[in-house]
Amino acid sequence: DKKLVIGLFGFGVVGEGLYKVLQQTPSLSAEIRRVCIKHPGKKRNAPDSLFTTDKNVLLNDAEINVIVEVIDDSAAAFDIVSTAFKNGKAVVSASKKMIAEHLPEILQFQKETGLPFLCEAAACASIPVIRNLEEYYDNDLLHGIKAIVNGSTNFILTKMFEEKLPYNEALLLAQQLGFAESNPTLDVEGYDSVNKWAILLNHAYGIVKSADDILFTGIQNIQAGDAAVAKQKSYEIKLVAQARKLQNGKVAAFVLPQFVTLDDHLSFVKNEYNGVVIESGFSDKQFFYGKGAGSFPTASAVLSDISALRYDYHYEYKKLYYHTPGELSTDFYLKT
Ligand code: HSE
Repeated sequence: DKKLVIGLFGFGVVGEGLYKVLQQTPSLSAEIRRVCIKHPGKKRNAPDSLFTTDKNVLLNDAEINVIVEVIDDSAAAFDIVSTAFKNGKAVVSASKKMIAEHLPEILQFQKETGLPFLCEAAACASIPVIRNLEEYYDNDLLHGIKAIVNGSTNFILTKMFEEKLPYNEALLLAQQLGFAESNPTLDVEGYDSVNKWAILLNHAYGIVKSADDILFTGIQNIQAGDAAVAKQKSYEIKLVAQARKLQNGKVAAFVLPQFVTLDDHLSFVKNEYNGVVIESGFSDKQFFYGKGAGSFPTASAVLSDISALRYDYHYEYKKLYYHTPGELSTDFYLKT
């Protein structure tokens, strides 16, 4: 069995979650050798000797063969990932913003080095959606996907409209529970969702586009009046990420708040849960559901990537390299 020696960047909600999860999964032959952190003064539930503030201690350690990067500063994350590849290390990342901003470079690094880059935690946390999209569906059979990919906004919508909690309290709760980004504007205004959507479009259709190319808005403009209309008509308001193959073969994709009917699978998704509905040829409709934020659910996805490295798993990017890659449409009108 291959011994994985991990250099971990970040010991926040996800990093500490991973540390605990690995302690509870001793059969996985993986050891966290060092953890690089930004603020050395904080009290942490792990031995002091584990921590350093010097990234090179991890990146230049020849015994460390896996860099796990779960920080939220996307510029620093990209720097770490670039150096990790240069130094011959496999990479596991949960930094959706960084990945969405650097898809072409990350693809290029993998091509050049042959090293794996896994990021199951970067979208829908505990739901194994990336490997699923990557492996299961052929490009031309994937008719469409719609999903709730941000736990915090779904949590806020649930608390506000079903439990009548004021917006500020709902957001505060999402922050306290570790669901929200350090800058929660990223959640509320849809940036986090669209970053995840760019990543999922890459694995679903081989599209290499950044958030800038995808139409999106968050829940910032939703008001009590909208909720009242929804209730009256028996709808739910959800922040829905959607992609659909059009008749011309292009893919329409966007992230927008939508009225969702109560028989729609996504209406079933409450609080910090995420849900993904996939429509494809032969399999018809499938619904995937699970926690989309939080310490252990996100760590679980990171753990699954670490575990996959034991058998040298890497994404084939088959939609991009073996099929005709999808092309984003500028036509957003969907006939359903
Ligand atoms: N802030 C993110 C969310 C965390 O609420 O979904 C998980 O990516």
